[in-house]
Amino acid sequence: MKREQWGSKYGFILAAMGSAIGLGNLVRYPSVVYENGAGAFLIPYFVALFTAGIPILFLEYSLGHKYRGAGPWVYQRLSKKWEWLGWWQSIVAFVILSYYMVILGWALSYTYYSFGSQWGEDTESFFFNNYLGVTEGVGVLGGIQWKVLIPVAILWAVLFWVLHRGAKRGIEWASKFMIPILVAMIVLITIRGLTLEGAIKGLEAYFTPDFAALSKPEVWINAYGQVFFTLSVGFCTMITYASYLPKRSDLANSGFIVALSNCSFEFFAAIGIFSALGFLATQQGVEVGEVVAGTLGMSFVVFPQIINQFPGLNSLFGVMFFVSLLFAGFTSAVSLAEPGIAAIREKFGLSRKAAVNWLCGASVLMSLLYVFKGGLYFLDIVDYFINNYGIVVSAILMVVLTGWVSKQVDSLQKHINDVSIVRIGGWWPAIIRFITPLSLAAMVLWNIYNEWMMTYGGYPQWSVNVFGWGLLAVVIILGALIQQRRWATEPSPHKEEVSS
Ligand code: PFF
Repeated sequence: MKREQWGSKYGFILAAMGSAIGLGNLVRYPSVVYENGAGAFLIPYFVALFTAGIPILFLEYSLGHKYRGAGPWVYQRLSKKWEWLGWWQSIVAFVILSYYMVILGWALSYTYYSFGSQWGEDTESFFFNNYLGVTEGVGVLGGIQWKVLIPVAILWAVLFWVLHRGAKRGIEWASKFMIPILVAMIVLITIRGLTLEGAIKGLEAYFTPDFAALSKPEVWINAYGQVFFTLSVGFCTMITYASYLPKRSDLANSGFIVALSNCSFEFFAAIGIFSALGFLATQQGVEVGEVVAGTLGMSFVVFPQIINQFPGLNSLFGVMFFVSLLFAGFTSAVSLAEPGIAAIREKFGLSRKAAVNWLCGASVLMSLLYVFKGGLYFLDIVDYFINNYGIVVSAILMVVLTGWVSKQVDSLQKHINDVSIVRIGGWWPAIIRFITPLSLAAMVLWNIYNEWMMTYGGYPQWSVNVFGWGLLAVVIILGALIQQRRWATEPSPHKEEVSS
């Protein structure tokens, strides 16, 4: 099978940036920062970035580029028995895709509601009661919420179309179109945010460090979680994207550009968001801490309140904010689908169209779970378990596989240096072998210990067993079962020397 290729080096960098920059940057980061020591959080954040995020990003680039395949293919090349790990990571991406699309559906609805601030004064009640129609508990499914189903269906149709068009004409094209507009809109929102009354109060909340937080292990855990999510590492996404690169591609340079632009975007956008929070707090005469909310509350409850209070052009800023979420999220959603699409193409010898139909068809069915009125509870449990265990545990296995089982990390370093202008030194294999596995293992053990002590989110035990632990077990078993089947095709080795 001839391998697809990006149109240019910049196409790849934009697609990788599109994957990295997403809801994680715009909404997850500000609430994680605030809840974990504000200014002081930057310390664990950078530690996580340098001990795990960036080293694994390079690992994924080199694996995808050297072995030219999606995750399962690459892992079985490292060691025959490890194909299941690639399925695990790709299925985790698929599971996230099914609810990520639902959140994007909400953003689409809210783009429409922005015209004339249709959410009214009580934005919290509007979101949970009018829009989502949330039921009284996880045991009550309720009916389908049509207001949610319709925008989700529209976005699925667009995603189908983009994925059908392929890496260059679909993914690269969407990123080239959306990322520059996104950056421009965020710059405008941030400048406007900074000039609002009370902005400084918000910035104080962002930057004033609470050093006591650094002694809490969960702050460190959250920093690692945020770094994985925001850089899109541990999902085979970057393996798959790098596999579409031509032979001569500067991997080290691209890696640094993507990591740097993603993290500075995150940092910068948070300045705008905190300024707006400071403004809201000033209008309401309260402290900033009282207006900050969790990830979803921040976007769909607090932001509409900010828009309500805006001194002019309310609808315009509302639309700009929700379209930013849509653009940032859409290019990430594309990259959550691609690892699975490429993997099933290679494994079962399918055409791109057939693979897209199978994967998206299955993911649409899973999405349906979250468009029921009780769907928010499932979304919360699945998101928590998949991110806290699904990704981090698989990342530990990934570095153990490359550093210790197949012992390929030195040859991967050589591979990166052979194709890149910037050379990466001996620090990289050392981090992959020792620092990353040890720091991640410490974090997971602490997490599991906490989990035994109390059930997540106060949900009934059965729901956490089914949608949390149960789902994780299904993901792993499914990976092991697929491993038993023979490969229908072999991804092609580098043939064409296309200049980038
Ligand atoms: N990096 C994306 C964000 O910050 O929202 C989320 C994401 C996309 C995670 C793609 C993983 C992935 F494979």
